[in-house]
This record gives sequence, C-alpha cells and structure tokens, in this order.
Amino acid sequence: MNKTSTPSNSPLSGGEQSRSLPDKGGLGRVALRISLIVAMAKNRTIGMNNTLPWRCPEDLKHFKALTMGHHMIMGRKTFDSIGKPLPGRTTVIVTRGRNLKIDGCLMAHSMQDAIKACAGDSEVFIVGGADIYTQSLQLVDTLYITEIQQDVDGDAHFPAFDKSVWKETAREMRSQETPQPLHYHFVTYQKTPSPQPSGKTTSQSTKPASGQVAGYPEGRGSNRENLE
Ligand SMILES: NC(=O)c1ccc[n+]([C@@H]2O[C@H](COP(=O)([O-])OP(=O)(O)OC[C@H]3O[C@@H](n4cnc5c(N)ncnc54)[C@H](OP(=O)(O)O)[C@@H]3O)[C@@H](O)[C@H]2O)c1
Repeated sequence: MNKTSTPSNSPLSGGEQSRSLPDKGGLGRVALRISLIVAMAKNRTIGMNNTLPWRCPEDLKHFKALTMGHHMIMGRKTFDSIGKPLPGRTTVIVTRGRNLKIDGCLMAHSMQDAIKACAGDSEVFIVGGADIYTQSLQLVDTLYITEIQQDVDGDAHFPAFDKSVWKETAREMRSQETPQPLHYHFVTYQKTPSPQPSGKTTSQSTKPASGQVAGYPEGRGSNRENLE
C-alpha cells in the first residue's frame, strides 16, 4: 500500500460543527450537516450489476470510519446490494414500497422523510446509489469522494455536478497493488457560500465516456466485510 498525504487547508476531521443551513428541499432551515460519500471512477461509474465494480478494502475502511455512529441514507437497491444493516450506524432506507419493512432499519418514503428521520445527529451521510445521489446533491454540504483514477465500466453513475460550487478542502492520494492495482484519492469538497444556495446539478446522461477500460468483474460482490 502506498500512501501520500496532501495536508488540507481546512480539514474536516476536527472542528467543523453543525450549523444552521439554508432551506433544503422544502425542509426549511435545518440545523443538520448533510454529507455525501461515494467512490467513483473518472467516468463517474459507481456501480455494476448492483454492486461495486472494483475491490478497494481501504476505501471500505474509510467509509466505515466516516459513517460510524451516524445515520446513513441509502436507496433500497443499495440496501439490497449490502444485504443487511451495517453495525454501529442507523440505516435509513428510501423506498416507495409502503409495505416494505426491514429489521434493524428505518424506512422512509421520500428524501425529506429520510432526512427528518435523522434529526438530532451531528452529521448524516447520503451513501447512494445513483438515484439517491441525484436527488440529494442539492441538499448536501460536504462531499467525500473517493476518486478512482481511471475509467471503469458500469451501469450506475454519479450525476454530473458543477464543481465551481464546491471547494476542495482535502486530498489524500493512495494506491494499492492487491486485490487489484488501483490508484485513488480520498477527496473532500465543501459547498462554497454563494448567492445560489442550492448546488447546480445537471441531469445529463449517465452513459460512461468512450475509451474506458474494463471494470473488474472478479471483484464484484465480495466487498461487504470492510463496511461493517
Ligand atoms: N460507488 C459507491 O460509492 C456506491 C455507493 C452506493 C451504491 N453504489 C451502487 O449504486 C448502484 C445502485 O444505485 P441505483 O440508482 O440503482 O439505486 P439506489 O439509488 O440505491 O436505489 C433506488 C431505489 O430507491 C428508492 N427511491 C429512490 N428515490 C426515491 C424517492 N424519492 N422516494 C422513495 N423511494 C425512492 C426506490 O426504491 P423502491 O424501488 O423500493 O421503491 C428506488 O428503486 C449499485 O450498483 C450500487 O453498487 C455505489
């Protein structure tokens, strides 16, 4: 494992506190820090066949370290891919299925209900997948993005977003040789104070760019253990 750190001007791992925030999608002023965490390839791929298209144990540990003790909001399909609530965290599953109940999880039938279910937490994490990211990007204050340094084939993609609305506050460069060679960066972005309170997102095609390399089918479906 290679590890190269770039000091942050404004590390989040410290003093940043919850603050009163502008209206979030009709929720009114919400004193809740909402963060989004995702691992994505250069071409914005985040998933393939409802699982991760790469194996990166350190990224799963990173996910675990950030989310531990907090609420995680996820789409029903992402929950299906994980298969069970992750220990030490409160899982809020967003579904339109009014009768769906899953032991150990809170069920929500809209993003607004999901966020309301997290009241009282100091930081809430939007953890995917593509559908939920698209709907929540405008609500989010912080992005924790693991930027995989190559294109990867996939069928789920992070939405394109306007980077000018976001300020990079931390970047840590990593690489691994096993279980597959991979270069990736842990990057933190904070939404910049702006006259436009909501981040400008686009609903552009989720098709990957051309010329990408293949994904890693042999790694799919065996990622779960380090999340727990
Ligand atoms: N790389 C990463 O960091 C990462 C993280 C998470 C997930 N992923 C990947 O992302 C993919 C899954 O993403 P996805 O877009 O297919 O599914 P998803 O966002 O996980 O879940 C979509 C489901 O959420 C529910 N939903 C969405 N919006 C809703 C709303 N406004 N109100 C009520 N329910 C709502 C619906 O569930 P019902 O159908 O039950 O109504 C919908 O089918 C997988 O490949 C997964 O591995 C990657």
